[in-house]
Amino acid sequence: MRYRPLTIGPDVVDIWRWPLDVGMDDLPRYVTALSDGEFARASRFVHERDRLRFIVGRGKLREIIGRYLGVPARRLSFACNAFGKPRLAASRPPLHFNLSHTGGMAVLAVSDRYHVGIDIEKIVPLREDVAGHFFSPGERLTLRNVPPDGYLEAFYRCWTRKEAFVKAHGAGLSLPLEAFDVSIDSVGEPKLLRLEGDPEAPAQWRLLNLALPAGFVGAMAALTAGNDISLRYRSDETAKDMREEMPLAAPVRRASSNNQLFNRASRM
Ligand SMILES: CC(C)(COP(=O)(O)OP(=O)(O)OC[C@H]1O[C@@H](n2cnc3c(N)ncnc32)[C@H](O)[C@@H]1OP(=O)(O)O)[C@@H](O)C(=O)NCCC(=O)NCCS
Repeated sequence: MRYRPLTIGPDVVDIWRWPLDVGMDDLPRYVTALSDGEFARASRFVHERDRLRFIVGRGKLREIIGRYLGVPARRLSFACNAFGKPRLAASRPPLHFNLSHTGGMAVLAVSDRYHVGIDIEKIVPLREDVAGHFFSPGERLTLRNVPPDGYLEAFYRCWTRKEAFVKAHGAGLSLPLEAFDVSIDSVGEPKLLRLEGDPEAPAQWRLLNLALPAGFVGAMAALTAGNDISLRYRSDETAKDMREEMPLAAPVRRASSNNQLFNRASRM
């Protein structure tokens, strides 16, 4: 079915969330959305659960991005920047996006104007001093003053804010995790507090908490040059989406699609 392309609007970042564990009936549409390279990557996963989750994550990402661009999911072409951050190979006007997945859940941030990064984590007990390895001295100090019953959530707030910033920044792991500080507290809007060598950065970046099911923590970062932004949570089901996506024309059936799918699926 062809849809009117989704729009985003000024100073809004769209947030999509979906489960990665789906029934076998839902799988074919995601398999057919993948490029050959993605299909090959899926085939290399050792564990079936990881393979299926990758397919659903990447397939749904393609579906969603395709809906903004008015392009079928399969026809999208992705590239990576020098540090591995995925982007659209060609998109005018540009569409920025970033994906994160954990514990069977995926989230996607989409913006038509700002570089974005997103990270979610499932809250699980820590087996080692992760903060000691990855956080900046300032963040470690702040965490030390958190009461024990709030430590785990505070740790994950810090982790996801740092990760979202790294992913939005685009320099990947070449950006030392000690080179910047994020706020850790749960009250108010999260903040980038410091970025080494760039005193203007805290005013240029926005960090926002994600509303997620209990047991998960997440953050979104965007380089807005000081503009305020808000998050808009989107889903296939909301009435607003349905209105925006009134079909433009009668569905076009492609006789070969099922055969292609099952040829592909049988190779997995
Ligand atoms: C790969 C990385 C970008 C995120 O990894 P992650 O947190 O394990 O995984 P997430 O689920 O949040 O994100 C994965 C998605 O991010 C995207 N991605 C991959 N490389 C990326 C990069 N360099 N920049 C931004 N996004 C990237 C991809 O869409 C990827 O999805 P895919 O695996 O299905 O292709 C990288 O930052 C990483 O390895 N981080 C962990 C290292 C660390 O020490 N973090 C400490 C934070 S305090």
